[in-house]
Amino acid sequence: MNKKTRARPHYFLLLIFFAFLDPPLSSSSDFPVAAEEITGYGYNLRSVTVDSSGKSLTAYLQLIDNSSVFGPDVQLLSFTASLETKDRLRIRITDANKPRWEIPNNIIPRQHHSRLRRSLPENPLHHRHSPPQISHPDSDLIFTLHNTTPFGFTVTRRSSDDTLFNTTPHHHNPSTYLIFKYQYLQLSSSLPPQTSNLYGIGEHTKGTFRLQHNQTLTLWNADIGSANTDVNLYGSHPFYMDVRSPKGITHGVLLLNSNGMDVVYNGDRITYKVIGGMLDLYFFAGPTPEMVMEQYTDLIGRPAPMPYWSFGFHQCRYGYKDVYDLENVVAGYAKARIPLEVMWTDIDYMDGYKDFTLDPINFPADKMKKFVDSLHKNGQKYVVILDPGISVNETYPTYIRGMQAEIFIKRNGVPYLGNVWPGSTYFPDFLNPSSETFWSNEIKLFHEILPVDGLWIDMNEISNFISSPANPSSTIDNPPYKINNSGTQRLINEKTVPATSLHYRNITEYDIHNLYGFLESRATNAALANVTGKRPFVLSRSTFVGSGKYTAHWTGDNAATWSDLAYTIPSILNFGLFGVPMVGADICGFSRNTTEELCRRWIQLGAFYPFARDHSDKFTTRQELYLWNSVATTARKVLGLRYKLLPYFYTLMYDAHSKGIPIARPIFFSFPDDTKTYEISSQFLLGKGVMVSPVLESGSVSVTTYFPSGNWFDLFDYSRSLSLKQGEHIKLDAPPDHINVHVREGNILAMQGEAMTTRTARKTPFELLVVISNEGNSSGDVFLDNGEDLEIGGEGGKWTIVRFSGGLMGNKVIIESEVLNEDYALSQKWIIDKVTILGLKTGFGKIKGCEFLVSGMRMRHRNLAVKAKDELNGFVILEVSKL
Ligand code: GLC
Repeated sequence: MNKKTRARPHYFLLLIFFAFLDPPLSSSSDFPVAAEEITGYGYNLRSVTVDSSGKSLTAYLQLIDNSSVFGPDVQLLSFTASLETKDRLRIRITDANKPRWEIPNNIIPRQHHSRLRRSLPENPLHHRHSPPQISHPDSDLIFTLHNTTPFGFTVTRRSSDDTLFNTTPHHHNPSTYLIFKYQYLQLSSSLPPQTSNLYGIGEHTKGTFRLQHNQTLTLWNADIGSANTDVNLYGSHPFYMDVRSPKGITHGVLLLNSNGMDVVYNGDRITYKVIGGMLDLYFFAGPTPEMVMEQYTDLIGRPAPMPYWSFGFHQCRYGYKDVYDLENVVAGYAKARIPLEVMWTDIDYMDGYKDFTLDPINFPADKMKKFVDSLHKNGQKYVVILDPGISVNETYPTYIRGMQAEIFIKRNGVPYLGNVWPGSTYFPDFLNPSSETFWSNEIKLFHEILPVDGLWIDMNEISNFISSPANPSSTIDNPPYKINNSGTQRLINEKTVPATSLHYRNITEYDIHNLYGFLESRATNAALANVTGKRPFVLSRSTFVGSGKYTAHWTGDNAATWSDLAYTIPSILNFGLFGVPMVGADICGFSRNTTEELCRRWIQLGAFYPFARDHSDKFTTRQELYLWNSVATTARKVLGLRYKLLPYFYTLMYDAHSKGIPIARPIFFSFPDDTKTYEISSQFLLGKGVMVSPVLESGSVSVTTYFPSGNWFDLFDYSRSLSLKQGEHIKLDAPPDHINVHVREGNILAMQGEAMTTRTARKTPFELLVVISNEGNSSGDVFLDNGEDLEIGGEGGKWTIVRFSGGLMGNKVIIESEVLNEDYALSQKWIIDKVTILGLKTGFGKIKGCEFLVSGMRMRHRNLAVKAKDELNGFVILEVSKL
């Protein structure tokens, strides 16, 4: 039956019960498998209750037969499906009789679902009906429950009839069945391998952005360097985006679960194998990638606003010797005229690697304070690292206060003793509200000594240099199903806090492990906000679903190799999908010695990461950008463009914060129906229209890149353009000092001048780059505020949005603006003093002038003469200056 025309039953009762104790329904077109052929495992439907609104359904599932592996089965499951919004469907499956671990609502706020069954419907109507469905005329998602043996469900798209998710099991193939044991949950869906393109599920280092078939993606936060491909790394994000060929209609799927898991992806099937919690599955209808992000971050939380300064260039290194070393690096950048916004210090600054202390010999408090003050005077910022492990040391005040507050993770009734940089350590339990108070107080006390601007939280997987033996009498440290931890099925206890350790209210590390970095990010963000009163900047290595609300992320310990340079693109794009848009990778490589050529190519790419930081390991060669002439020259050029684009980056951050759309985006975000964009792993877009196409190979002086149709203009030299009737792979020159960065027709970029700091850059006049499309129009916007207030874009706040639009009208270029909150920008006296118009074809007719009807920023000028600056490649470049 055509699902579009299927009438929904009319309900007279508040609830109507359907019972399926009878033989299966004959909806064989939906379900071709003969039910009786499958024996053992799986669940049968026992009863179904559909809410009168038709938007939610509750069912009970009865185990068919116990299975012999991975421990005892749960006999009765409660199953709910609900359309929580028109774009979001939730399916929740859990033990009907006993509460199970579930991510607390104060971590990711969700709609309430009763945990346990009240009672089974006493007198179910023996009613044959077409398969129960959840749908709503306004929603594109349709949920259908199939009364097969074992049962299955499908999620389909109303507008296209496409099946998005289908758990109906395969003949005699238990790996496709629903399995629900105390420590093993399995859910499997078929996928159409020809049309489904998956992205996401991380954190992993991958050679490609699109997920390859036949692989297991393991999620268990671990301190495994990101130079290792295809293994679980620091964060867990069980979210994927499915872009369906050929039109690019996109949906998202989240399994909201914090336990360890393997996700097996074979192209025609995705199977979750999870060692705890419950199956809490969310579908986001899209249909565009942007809309999926908006819907996904509506659930998990929108990305945190980032301070303006965090878009400047950052320098760090593990192994800076002393405060003079730091001063010299800052001076080195100034001398080379390379912008340096933020100086960082790794664990070297601490006394014996103890958090909140300063090494009295090499980083003494008075000299450090002077150093940080001088950075601040110069408009620069300072960030230091913190590790979660608190040194066990009776003379260490932080330790003493932690013990008094009783906030450490416990095992066998005493704080669990780990070992990290300072030696023996205890770990604060950030689930405990007292830990937040403790942490905030420590940050406050430290900030009084050294007024840092942001905090870098590392080792929070939790990383532990020792592995404690498993408790032999429990299956918690050593569960029956071994996830593929570190690619070797190593015990989940290895090099972390053991799974049997206990957090607040006796929640096990087993359940909360993947949330530790999230919880520390939340506490650190709140502490910084409290202490500084300004918009916090936190950089966390470990992340979970929703971490973007509190923190930025870097991709961890990569290596100074050409392949790692290339892998940074898939990694950064993935974090955009995970709702953590402020992301970067260690520029020039962390471990191993970098080379001049690699570092040069890396800063060319890294200058366009949302978060741009050079960082390296202790025993490697130094790699500050001024150390090689060719790197310094290229750094001035590419960071020069980055700083000109700062208003654009910042506006993209505002868009990310308000709608969840990444700053660095896959190309299919702007061109979803161009299927050639689906496989691209070596280029990305900033916003909707700035394409970054780096050189990723040693010795190359050209780059073969893909450009979707349209006119594209090189942002370093507007006269270099591409005009493509359809998408094409193009070989572009990329001499040693050049990276290709293009803007596409139809965009208006509000740019500012180059400068050594963002503070100075913000005082330079604006240039509007108007790139008129073949159809004669263009648009773009800019978000303006002071860049550091806690709240961003709030009601009555001090901010302005200017939306520019314009194009060719007859023989005039007319640019208009729509302004929100005009007063703020006017009070700041921002000026547009130059307009460059691209995209008009040579010989398009005589242009009479330019009319600007722009308000918000100081320009209200009419009928200005324009002069053609250049006529190359069939395009004319028009410049309007001295407005
Ligand atoms: C970890 C971090 C790295 C840092 C080092 C020392 O390896 O990932 O960035 O430099 O610890 O703190």
